[in-house]
Amino acid sequence: MRPAIFLLGVFLAAGSCSPDKPSNTEEYPDASGKSAPEANLSDPTKGIGEVKEVKLHSPLEQDRIKRGLSIYEMKCQPCHKLDETRVVGPGWKGVTQRRRPEWIMNMVTNVDVMLEKDTEAQKLLELCLTRMPNQNVSLGDARDVLEFMRSNDGEK
Ligand code: HEC
Repeated sequence: MRPAIFLLGVFLAAGSCSPDKPSNTEEYPDASGKSAPEANLSDPTKGIGEVKEVKLHSPLEQDRIKRGLSIYEMKCQPCHKLDETRVVGPGWKGVTQRRRPEWIMNMVTNVDVMLEKDTEAQKLLELCLTRMPNQNVSLGDARDVLEFMRSNDGEK
């Protein structure tokens, strides 16, 4: 009889401790340790990558737009149209309204990680069924393309 009572005691003790656990992790989501790499990601709508904050200027910077256009023609045009039409990737019309500037620049400069971890990027991949290739676009070039996208969306 004794072992059974002992086991019952252990069971009850374990049971009485467990209700604390879920509420703890809810209150401190980072306490699990698991989410530590994502912890510096304060705003998921900014995507994942080096770009944390983009300062936009208005009026638009014309020299950036010019450089952005030629980068577009060289590296992006085969897959992206400037209207809403999807070719390989989504058309760029409205992209600066759909996405934060930081998200766009992270998508362009850190596409492999974005496709692996960012839910919005993954939704696009499900839709397009082609992985956007990493083309080693520098942060400066990505910023120029962003300016070109703003101009394409009618910003002045
Ligand atoms: C080989 C085709 C291809 C090329 C070249 C390409 N992309 Fe993409 N792009 C895609 C695909 C496909 C997606 C959708 C995500 C996916 O499936 O990987 C995408 C998604 C995007 C998005 C997100 C669009 C949205 O609607 O949210 C941006 C921004 C983007 N690309 C920018 C660029 C830039 C800038 C270049 C050029 C430097 C470029 N892409 C070159 C195929 C391409």
